[in-house]
Amino acid sequence: MTETTFQTSPELPDGVIPEEIVERTESRWLRFMLAMLAIMMVVIVSTSIMGSLHPPSNVEVVDPVRLHQSGEFVESNLGTAMEPDGSVTVRLIAVQYEFVPHCVVVPAGVPVKFRLTSADVVHGFILPDTNVNTMVAPAFVSEVTTQFPKVGEYVMPCHEFCGLGHHAMWSHVSVQPKEAFAGQDLATRRRCARS
Ligand code: CUA
Repeated sequence: MTETTFQTSPELPDGVIPEEIVERTESRWLRFMLAMLAIMMVVIVSTSIMGSLHPPSNVEVVDPVRLHQSGEFVESNLGTAMEPDGSVTVRLIAVQYEFVPHCVVVPAGVPVKFRLTSADVVHGFILPDTNVNTMVAPAFVSEVTTQFPKVGEYVMPCHEFCGLGHHAMWSHVSVQPKEAFAGQDLATRRRCARS
């Protein structure tokens, strides 16, 4: 085979590879690359289907265009709510370029569950020095639970680039003593009044 190839181009100088060999080698590599690509696509698609990959941190879905009309994320339901077991749930909407409500009060020393969704694009939600760090995607509810051991203020920036106002998108969490928190109504908890 190699002999035949060289016989067809006997006049080539040293170091120059005959065209037929170059073509054959290139087409072999092309087939190899296409096969690799196909294998990788199969792996990606099958693992995402079999592993049920989805945005963090659960598979709850919500209609992003009807958030304000009904359901869990209507305006009157946003902010910090007490649960019968003594824990609290904080509901927030991320929207270009703010978190609604802009500030939330939570009690120290009790489990705090954050439930968030986005009304437009993908945002990020992080509370430095805690385990809270999640993506907030439209049509999905992100849920993360934490506990604040001490009274204090936490800045809550958006950490996923979401547009020109991304750098100005932040909110904060005011952690207050349990007793002070218990005496506040929902509106006060959203205004972050210090007590
Ligand atoms: Cu929202 Cu960046």
